[in-house]
Amino acid sequence: MVTGASRGLGLEFVTQMLAFPSPPEVVIAACRNPSSATNLQAIAKSDHRLKIISLDVEKDEDIEKAFQETQSFVGEKGLNILINNAGFYDQSNNGRLQDVTRESMQKHFNINVSGQLMVIQKFLPLLELAISNRGSKDLNCQAEVVMLSSIAGSQNLTYQAGLLSCLHYKCSKSAGTMASILLSRELRSAGIHVLSLHPGWVRTDMGGPEANLSVEESFSGCLKVIGSASANTTGKFLDYSGAELPY
Ligand SMILES: NC(=O)c1ccc[n+]([C@@H]2O[C@H](COP(=O)([O-])OP(=O)(O)OC[C@H]3O[C@@H](n4cnc5c(N)ncnc54)[C@H](OP(=O)(O)O)[C@@H]3O)[C@@H](O)[C@H]2O)c1
Repeated sequence: MVTGASRGLGLEFVTQMLAFPSPPEVVIAACRNPSSATNLQAIAKSDHRLKIISLDVEKDEDIEKAFQETQSFVGEKGLNILINNAGFYDQSNNGRLQDVTRESMQKHFNINVSGQLMVIQKFLPLLELAISNRGSKDLNCQAEVVMLSSIAGSQNLTYQAGLLSCLHYKCSKSAGTMASILLSRELRSAGIHVLSLHPGWVRTDMGGPEANLSVEESFSGCLKVIGSASANTTGKFLDYSGAELPY
C-alpha cells in the first residue's frame, strides 16, 4: 500500500510496483481524491491488481475506512509493505521564525508525523497477518514500513550546514525520523522492519523542476534500498543510494 499515490513519488511507486517481474498480487493506492486521480484511474482500468482507496491522513475516519477497504482487498494474506509517502510542504511560507504560524506547524506535523503514525497504528494488524502467514519473525524477509523522510529533517546536517529555516517542514520531517527509530524498536520483535528513506531531491510538485533526480531515478534507487532491508537496517535513515544519513 502506498499513501499519497495521486502524483509525484507515490504515483511512481504504484506504477513501478505493478510492473515488477514478480509483481504483488494487489497494490493499494491511497489518495485524498480518487475521482480526480486521473493517472491512477487510467492504470486501474487495465490493471485490476490496482485498488484505489480514499485516504486523507489528517482524518481518523478516513484511516478507519481505508483500513476496512484494504482488509477486504488483501484478505487473510495481510499487507507486506506500507509505504508512508503522503507528505506536505507549504512552499508559500518560507518557514522562518517571523513567518511561521501555529497553524502551519500543526498542519505539517499532522500530515508528516501524526498522519504517518496513525496509519501505521491502524494497519498494524494487516502487517502482522502477513508475518504470521510466513511463520517467522526474521526481520530479513518480513513486513516493512517505509517512512518517506527527507535529508532536510537531519538535525546533524542542518546544524553543520546552517541551511535555510523551513521550520515547519524540517521540524516535522525530523520528528518523523524519530518516530521511525522508536517504531523500529517497538516493532522489531514482531518482525516488522521500519525504515526512514530520503528519496533524493526529485522533480515533483514538491521538489520542483530544478531538482537533480527524475521520479524514475529516485524510485529505482529507493527500490534497491527497500529490497535490501534486513535486521541491520531497521531504524536506519538511508537515502535512495543506500547511504546512511545522520539523524
Ligand atoms: N520531491 C522531493 O525532492 C522530496 C525530497 C525529500 C523527501 N520527499 C518526501 O517524499 C514524499 C513524496 O513527495 P513528493 O515529492 O512526491 O510530493 P508531492 O509531489 O507534493 O506529492 C505529495 C503527495 O502527498 C499527498 N498528500 C498531501 N497531503 C495529504 C494528506 N493530508 N493525506 C493524504 N495524502 C496527502 C498529495 O496528495 P494530493 O494530490 O491530494 O495533494 C500527493 O499525492 C513526501 O513525504 C516528501 O516529504 C520528497
